[in-house]
Amino acid sequence: MTLLPMTDMLLKAKMEKYAVPQFNIINMEFTQAIVETSTEENSPVILGVGEPTIKYMGMDYVMAIAETAAKNSSVTISLHLDHGSSFEVVMQCIRAGFSSVMIDGSKYSFNENISLTKKVVEAAHSVGVSVEAELGTIGGTEDNIHVNEKEVVLPSAEEAIEFWNHTKVDALAVAVGTAHGMYKIEPNIQFDVISDISNTIPVPLVLHGGSGIPDQDIKRAIECGISKINVNTENQVAFSNAVRKIINSHDDIQDSRLFLRVGREAVKEMVRSKIRLFSSINKNDVSLQNI
Ligand code: 13P
Repeated sequence: MTLLPMTDMLLKAKMEKYAVPQFNIINMEFTQAIVETSTEENSPVILGVGEPTIKYMGMDYVMAIAETAAKNSSVTISLHLDHGSSFEVVMQCIRAGFSSVMIDGSKYSFNENISLTKKVVEAAHSVGVSVEAELGTIGGTEDNIHVNEKEVVLPSAEEAIEFWNHTKVDALAVAVGTAHGMYKIEPNIQFDVISDISNTIPVPLVLHGGSGIPDQDIKRAIECGISKINVNTENQVAFSNAVRKIINSHDDIQDSRLFLRVGREAVKEMVRSKIRLFSSINKNDVSLQNI
């Protein structure tokens, strides 16, 4: 299968009230774990790639690994830039072959964010690439982005609706009280804002900071209109804990594949549990792959 934009898979998710998972990839093992498990569960999936990962792996490796994984899978897969910081980075990813991009203009004013996002939408749509944008500021730490609690801005439903009317993005990440990384206290999610936006405009909504949210809150967020949920930290923790455990208990390991394989299995189990929690199991739709 080739890499596809996420537009149709998210519209279907919104209609049928489940969420397509975005799992971030950082290397071959994560990519294999995510794509193999999504294929086993017959779930569409979005492979998120942040700018630090592009620097870490190199663009050619990102493309080669994602394309190889997609070629060997029967499910719909998007390769999506996570938190793209500029028009230039977005263009670099589109030229390399990403099928979807996020432009994160949340550090700019409302009007500047609209202008930047519109420019990205125009360029991306002209070559069939889908676009996600961010409104408000999501707290926590992700890769090289740190947002402390005082900097968190939660927009109103009216602002989100106005933003979408101007930009017509394919997916909208609105800050609604979640944060990147693990939570110290339970998140206070603005479910009413999610419902108000979702009931007013057709755009699928994205929940960032999907790690560590109680299961009942995830289910409620989907019920209110979330159609894509991003998970990274929980996969990283699962991988690191599994690798640490085997290395600590076998200090004679020399063949790295022994612990990489264990880490990969741990990510597979985490991915499986999220797919089932998000109800995207058996939601792959082959007709979306023929467009
Ligand atoms: P977590 O690392 O909290 O799961 O968030 C991931 C994310 O939102 C990626 O954009």
